Amino acid sequence: MLKETMERYGAMVEDALEGFLPTEPCRQSRIFEACRYSLMAGGKRIRPMLLLEFYRLCGGKPEEALPFACGLEMIHTYSLIHDDLPCMDDDDYRRGRLSNHKVYGEAMATLAGDALLNRAFEIMVAQTALPANRALAAAACISRCSGMYGMIGGQVQDLALEGKTATLEELQEMVGLKTGALLRAACEGGALLAGAEEQKLQAARDYADCVGLAFQIQDDILDVTGDQAVLGKAIGSDANNQKTTFVSVYGLETCRSMVRNLTQQALAAAEVFEDGEFLKELALYLAQRNK
Ligand code: IPE
Ligand code: IPE
Ligand code: MG
Ligand code: MG
Ligand code: MG
Repeated sequence: MLKETMERYGAMVEDALEGFLPTEPCRQSRIFEACRYSLMAGGKRIRPMLLLEFYRLCGGKPEEALPFACGLEMIHTYSLIHDDLPCMDDDDYRRGRLSNHKVYGEAMATLAGDALLNRAFEIMVAQTALPANRALAAAACISRCSGMYGMIGGQVQDLALEGKTATLEELQEMVGLKTGALLRAACEGGALLAGAEEQKLQAARDYADCVGLAFQIQDDILDVTGDQAVLGKAIGSDANNQKTTFVSVYGLETCRSMVRNLTQQALAAAEVFEDGEFLKELALYLAQRNK
């Protein structure tokens, strides 16, 4: 059931992303190529899947939400391109291939990130099939979650904590923003787009907050214990950069139990939805993932 649903959503997202990327020959077509290189490199597509699923759970047809799902995946991919730059985490591999800047150079990688961010909002705002008030509410949520109070804010806190120790509260805030915020954009954004009532919106936020924290703790675990060939990115990056992570502060065993506890909390949040099976299976799958 989980596998089939993931494959179905995954295929919808791949097809739609393909259609949202420009291809026509022109003087700046190298930026199209650089964007496509990172976007169509086989990410897990967790954020767009969650957006489509929350839209469905709150009463919509998933196809209608594809521009928002794809926009969010573009924003996520831009965050990865910039995260890998030498001035940030300086990582050479991503999604099983060389990082964007290793192929296109730092200037083009910076621009490809910027271009994906702008294309994302172009796609979301240009689509008119949905009621404007809902589309606007979802776009406002996604932009806030991506910006200074969201993912970017978290990346700033991540950099500020390099080489330092951190309290649990500092770690939770940093991770809740750098990774949790785009998960929240997916869950809350999908629910807002469907015009969900407050109880469902709150459940979407609760689920996202637990899954987001668990997701980054698992990412930090895999940075130590993962296999590069499976993960598609280099391991040991956090230690190289003297990152302060849940693993560096609490160790692997405590982190594994944190992931389990947060996943249980995510399952509880999913109870609000009568038909929340996929949410539960996905949270359990993400807690076990090796990529
Ligand atoms: C990687 O995200 C960055 C983090 C927030 C941990 P994903 O693990 O979702 O990466 P892709 O999209 O599958 O490449
Ligand atoms: C990623 O955190 C958060 C982003 C906003 C991109 P990491 O730096 O741990 O992500 P990976 O491990 O490079 O994918
Ligand atoms: Mg980083
Ligand atoms: Mg990184
Ligand atoms: Mg990482």
